[in-house]
Parts: sequence; structure tokens; C-alpha cells
Amino acid sequence: MQRTLSIIKPDGVAKNVIGQIVSRFEADGLRIAAMRMMQLSEREAGAFYAVHKDRPFFKDLVSFMVSGPVVVMVLEGDDAILRNRNLMGATNPAEADAGTIRADFADSIDANTVHGSDAPETAAQEIRFFFGERELSA
Ligand code: CMP
Repeated sequence: MQRTLSIIKPDGVAKNVIGQIVSRFEADGLRIAAMRMMQLSEREAGAFYAVHKDRPFFKDLVSFMVSGPVVVMVLEGDDAILRNRNLMGATNPAEADAGTIRADFADSIDANTVHGSDAPETAAQEIRFFFGERELSA
């Protein structure tokens, strides 16, 4: 059993496809272990993506992530990290395989609809960033 953090980004929320995205996770057998809709502050978005702070796209990434509400959730299941990444498709939607979330809903590399943790260490860190013990106890 593994856990991973998923974010439905502001473009996914604006397109009214939260349910469609969550359905894909559920249909694949992943369980929603915790979930919240929220508006990120610039400070929170910058802290969440701190690993990218020296990259040229950092400023645009933070601006985009605070442009509207996001849905943060913890997905749980066997191989949850890899399965979520397979469901999402490549970071750049232009390179995402047909049938993936990003191929079907994303418009650009910034507005790429979803984020998913990329490894067990980052998953643990990203889950802790958004969720406390009480929200994860179920
Ligand atoms: P995400 O998986 O949320 O992690 C960092 C985000 O930065 C990524 O998705 C993209 O939305 C955004 N981004 C913008 N430009 C790039 C780039 N050149 N390489 C990687 N990520 C990028």
C-alpha cells in the first residue's frame, strides 16, 4: 500500500472536471484517503514548489497555481505513485499519451491540470505539506 499527493490545478477546477478526474483515479482502483479544496497563497505555492525555485518557469508556475482554487488529495493503493503518474500522462500535455488526464484536459505545460508526487520521499513530504494526522486517520 502506497500514498501519493494529487493536486487538481486551477485549470482543472475552472473547467469543472474535478469529478471526471477523481473518477479516473477511482476507476483505476486508487482510493481517496483525504481531500480538500483550497486557495493557495503565493507563499504556500512557492513553498510547495521550492525545489523549482531557481528554474526559469518558477514565477509563472506560482502565478498560475494561485490563479484560482485547487483540489488537494491523497491517493492510496498499490503502486499509487506510478499509477497516478500513468493516469496523468507527461508533464507537457503535447507529449502526453492519448487517454491520459493531461492529454484530455490540459492546455499547456503550466496549465497541465494535475500534479502528482514523483517518488516516495516527495510523496511523504507533499502529503505532510497539506494534511495532518487527523485528516489521514480514516
Ligand atoms: P508539476 O508536476 O506540478 O511540477 C512542476 C510544474 O512546473 C509542472 O507540473 C509544470 O506545470 C510546470 N512547468 C512549467 N515549465 C516546466 C518545465 N520546463 N519543466 C517542468 N515543469 C514545468
